[in-house]
Amino acid sequence: MTTLLFATNNQHKLREIREIIGTSIQIISLNDAGFEGDIPETGDTLAENACQKARFVYERTGRDCFADDTGLFIDALDGRPGVYSARYAGEGCSFDDNVRKILAELEGVENRKASFRCVICLILEGKEHLFEGRVDGIILTERKGTDGFGYDPVFRPKGQLQSFSQMPPYLKNGISHRGRAIGKMLRFLGN
Ligand code: IMP
Repeated sequence: MTTLLFATNNQHKLREIREIIGTSIQIISLNDAGFEGDIPETGDTLAENACQKARFVYERTGRDCFADDTGLFIDALDGRPGVYSARYAGEGCSFDDNVRKILAELEGVENRKASFRCVICLILEGKEHLFEGRVDGIILTERKGTDGFGYDPVFRPKGQLQSFSQMPPYLKNGISHRGRAIGKMLRFLGN
């Protein structure tokens, strides 16, 4: 069975990726690999960040691995928070701080269109492969639901009646940016 190290310290992402991938590939966490510490993320694009994270972990563990970088791109905010989605409300901010900031910036704004975009960088025997996933939707005017993480409570995918936070995981994963990018990676790996 293929074994891949997932280069993330985000436990929500780790759980989601394991739910999406199931048992076809064994996903090892940084903890399992005895890797500790922060992973730098200083690029200006999702692809740069995904590759930076994957390379950082590959160089220190020598293991086949992958990393994802995700951003929420809001039309009315000229694509912000985009690649800066994690720290949009400032260094050390919480998911809730970020959600509060975008809701305030979109107060009274009619155009609520947005998209989640995810880039995965997979490193296999030192060679890099990129996979992208995207989902379009809108930013709600208030939080809906309690599941998920990040901006999930205020993002409703196009054609759906529920926010990502209101959906059972299998439904979010079936249509999400990350689910789509992982689907491409799995097809590449022949699963
Ligand atoms: P990262 O830089 O890829 O870790 O992600 C940037 C930020 O985007 C995270 O801190 C979350 O706030 C948000 N984010 C990433 N993936 C998701 C998702 O699937 N749903 C909601 N928010 C997400």
